[in-house]
Amino acid sequence: MKINEITDSVYYVGVNDRVTVRFEAMWPLPYGVSYNSYLVRGKKTALIDGVKIDEVQDFLKNIDDASTAGIDYLVVNHTEPDHSGAIPEVVRAYPDIRIVGNAKTVEYIKGFCKITDDSRFLVVKDGDTLDLGGLTLRFALIPMVHWPETMVTYLEERNLLFSGDAFGAFGALNGAVVDRDMDTSIYYEEMYRYYSNIVGKYGRFVTAALAKLKDLKLDYICPTHGPVWHDEIAKVVEIYRSLAAYESEPGVVIVYGSMYGNTGDAAEAIARALAERGEKKIIIHNAAKSEMSDMIRDAFRYRTLIVGSCTYSMRLFPPVEMFMNAMETREIRDKVFGVFGSFTWAPNVTGGMFAGYSERMKLPIDAAFSFRHAMGEQAYKDIDEFADSIIAAQNNKV
Ligand code: FEO
Repeated sequence: MKINEITDSVYYVGVNDRVTVRFEAMWPLPYGVSYNSYLVRGKKTALIDGVKIDEVQDFLKNIDDASTAGIDYLVVNHTEPDHSGAIPEVVRAYPDIRIVGNAKTVEYIKGFCKITDDSRFLVVKDGDTLDLGGLTLRFALIPMVHWPETMVTYLEERNLLFSGDAFGAFGALNGAVVDRDMDTSIYYEEMYRYYSNIVGKYGRFVTAALAKLKDLKLDYICPTHGPVWHDEIAKVVEIYRSLAAYESEPGVVIVYGSMYGNTGDAAEAIARALAERGEKKIIIHNAAKSEMSDMIRDAFRYRTLIVGSCTYSMRLFPPVEMFMNAMETREIRDKVFGVFGSFTWAPNVTGGMFAGYSERMKLPIDAAFSFRHAMGEQAYKDIDEFADSIIAAQNNKV
């Protein structure tokens, strides 16, 4: 079996991107990213999912290598341009190809790709099937995982799910395609970052999609990014299930912003106080220096979130405010939540601003304190009480 043959009649024709610095122009790609595409060969041939336009030459070559018989269908599970960008070139290379998607898919492809001829499209609904001659594709709509048009495609005779962004991870593929043929460890770290950064806001839709797909027999999951899952399906599904449900692991993430180090001193003192009380997993992020991507990942993953800020022009320090906006956007919940703030000549507004986030996010504050100027005797005493409150809240929420 060739390394790009996933199972009988199913081939990998995707591409790696080791050039793009930031996915969606925001999220770092230290290990690159793959845009996965697959070819299913029955009597008719279907290409499943496309790639970003930058990689179109490699993509067309991969398709050509895998199929000498042309392509009858292009199934579009998701139209975001990292998957739809190359569609116009695929249509140019295979003029008779029909694009398979739901009504929203067609709307978005017409908009993005300027393909307007209705006869080009085969519109499918939830539960519809497409017979390739000996192989059957069944379509299931899973809206908002992670756009409204998103669907998945199940290859019935192979128990194989083309899952779109679901179960994806950052990280280009290094030779092998299927988990059985590689060391998957980096993809798990990158899966937490991918999920929390990209899909994180849509947890309830991921949960609904998992419920809809729960009775499918799965031998292969073929996402649009990262490895094809075969041996490790149970582990991957469980990670997505728990992240979508906002479940988290024991551990403390402290995110702070500090202009001259005083709020940073408080962050260090909080970490020490928690360590003295037995907390072993503590991650500290200086919001002005850490990648937003990493802070979001850790905030998703660990149970206790502590955020601190100096007062800056009557608001939170801007990098901390950006972080809190990212938390609010992703509807972060079910955390032990502590906040702290510092101020000098302006009124202490940090408490009020954190309270605003807490209210809007329905994320109660379990511990809070503030100090003026620099850390002093009272501030250290307050931190002891703060740490006690955090530990008590952790014990209450176990
Ligand atoms: Fe990989 Fe939502 O696009």
